[in-house]
Amino acid sequence: MERILTTFLISMAGALMTGAPDAVAGGVEVSHLGVNNTLVRTNGEGRYLMLPVQESSDDAKINVLVDGNIAETIYVRLAKSKIDYTVPFDLSPYKGHDVIMDIISPQGRSSVREAKEDVCWKAFELADTFDISNNEKYRPAYHHTPLYGWMNDPNGMFYKDGTWHLYYQHNPYGSKWQNMNWGHSVSTDLINWTHLPIAIKPNGLGSVFSGSAAVDSANTAGFGNNAVIALYTSAGTSQMQSLASSTDDGVSFSIYPGNPVIALESEARDPKIFRNNDTDEWNMVLAHPLEHEMLIFTSPDLKNWKYRSSFGKGLGAQGGVWECPDLFELPIEGTSDKKWVLICNINPDGPFGGSGTQYFIGDFDGRTFKADTDKDGNIPTKWLDYGKDHYATVTWSDAPARRRTAIGWMSNWQYAADVPTTQFRSANTLPREIGLFRAPDGDIYASSAPAPEVEQLRGCLTSRINKTTIGKKPRTVQLPASNDGICEIVMDIEAYKADAIDLVLSNSSGDKVKMQYDTRKHTLSFDRTESGIVDFSENFPAVTVTPTHEAEGRIQLRIFIDRSSMEVFGNGGRFVMTNLVFPSVPYTILALSSQGGNAKISNLKIFSINTK
Ligand code: FRU
Repeated sequence: MERILTTFLISMAGALMTGAPDAVAGGVEVSHLGVNNTLVRTNGEGRYLMLPVQESSDDAKINVLVDGNIAETIYVRLAKSKIDYTVPFDLSPYKGHDVIMDIISPQGRSSVREAKEDVCWKAFELADTFDISNNEKYRPAYHHTPLYGWMNDPNGMFYKDGTWHLYYQHNPYGSKWQNMNWGHSVSTDLINWTHLPIAIKPNGLGSVFSGSAAVDSANTAGFGNNAVIALYTSAGTSQMQSLASSTDDGVSFSIYPGNPVIALESEARDPKIFRNNDTDEWNMVLAHPLEHEMLIFTSPDLKNWKYRSSFGKGLGAQGGVWECPDLFELPIEGTSDKKWVLICNINPDGPFGGSGTQYFIGDFDGRTFKADTDKDGNIPTKWLDYGKDHYATVTWSDAPARRRTAIGWMSNWQYAADVPTTQFRSANTLPREIGLFRAPDGDIYASSAPAPEVEQLRGCLTSRINKTTIGKKPRTVQLPASNDGICEIVMDIEAYKADAIDLVLSNSSGDKVKMQYDTRKHTLSFDRTESGIVDFSENFPAVTVTPTHEAEGRIQLRIFIDRSSMEVFGNGGRFVMTNLVFPSVPYTILALSSQGGNAKISNLKIFSINTK
């Protein structure tokens, strides 16, 4: 011990006297300047500086000094006692320059000596590659996920020249929320996504929270015909609305020097812009989260915005912040009438706790949104999805053929940071087409069906039952033999004499997902309390229930399983439940039975999934 101490003191003295670094390895030099301050200088070759992360650590603040000036500030949970994984910091934009990470560690060390024991200091290294092979057990096979790191809200989505652009709230420096950037992916078919470089990075006004983008075909903002204009929230000390423009189809954005374009005295975020063809103006819906309302603005040029009205105080679910709005007009199925839909994501106070997507149906004149009342004169609370894992759902701007295509974040703020994945966290839902229909209760509701492109995922038909009667004794069907936890199941259920029909997915470990169609209450429930790993959060085990919006005791189900997610669509999207599940091994069997009498099942088909 004494020798170690002596050696330590000598090296300390050496460092103090000569200014030499405390450690030189892997192309980096580490110099401790005090209990909470360390410099990591890159002095070798390599595209990435690998940063060692421990998820249970607190964030270190890292000022990235390029030739002595702060070029970026990032927050990273640098490993203290154990390295969970490493994340790459891309040095290529600074090639040829001197790069130093000036690290301000979290408080809590009593001496420099203790601070030096953190395992991260020996693990910083330069590398040319970073493994993104993404083979974690619970990584979805056919849903959009980030290559690595954290993802929450999809945002800024627009369609242009055959390409669907999807941006998302992204932390590239860890699998928990922090450092919000706009990650970017593109697709020509809404299924196969190509990852592109980060599109908008934080600047001096703050990190880049959610927002929207649209093609400015008439050059109203002055950045050129067909420039892509993004409006997002700069979140620094306060939240304000910023503009960025792109003249290369959304690959790179220039942040507008006149930002912020909207600065209010209170928290406001997630601007959703759209061109209103009736008024020939731009509209913006902006969340006023703490007031539980949405603000409506107009603009001739996307830079100058005028406040027009507020909607929502005291209406719908009010027990959480209102976020991520959307507003659009749609025809009501089977009629020539149209209605406006105002989406107000809310967290918490979703239908089963935590996050949820509520919406209002009504009229909009370019200035004010007025919600419809139901037959009792109330403005009802409606949910676009009755699962626990459907949030921040918004739609694409400029989608072709008047489509209203939406995508949501498939998680819930209650436990999103704790789900049992490592290299990445969170996936988006399948793309969905939003429509309007009149339900048997006389009211108008939004439907949310898989986008037609989803059909291309169908692989082989692995099981089929044309017609069968089921009773008390379960009838079992095998899920695809090549099953690695992905498939599509479709079927028609007719109540016939049954009070309830049970659908149970299970595996050899005894994990179960139990769904039940209650033919009397006209509901479908989804019980994931025994679905596999459920103990990472007390909020995860849950039973969710959706109204089926039918009166005749018949439902048509379309269920998508993708390793750790299940999306259950009923009657062409008239009811939907999206729930995460973490089975210890994939579910292999579907068991069907009925209670109170026989029921009829027809057109049951199970498909494997085509993945690239
Ligand atoms: C919704 C949200 C938004 C915000 C973003 C930050 O999930 O809280 O209101 O812009 O996440 O990442």
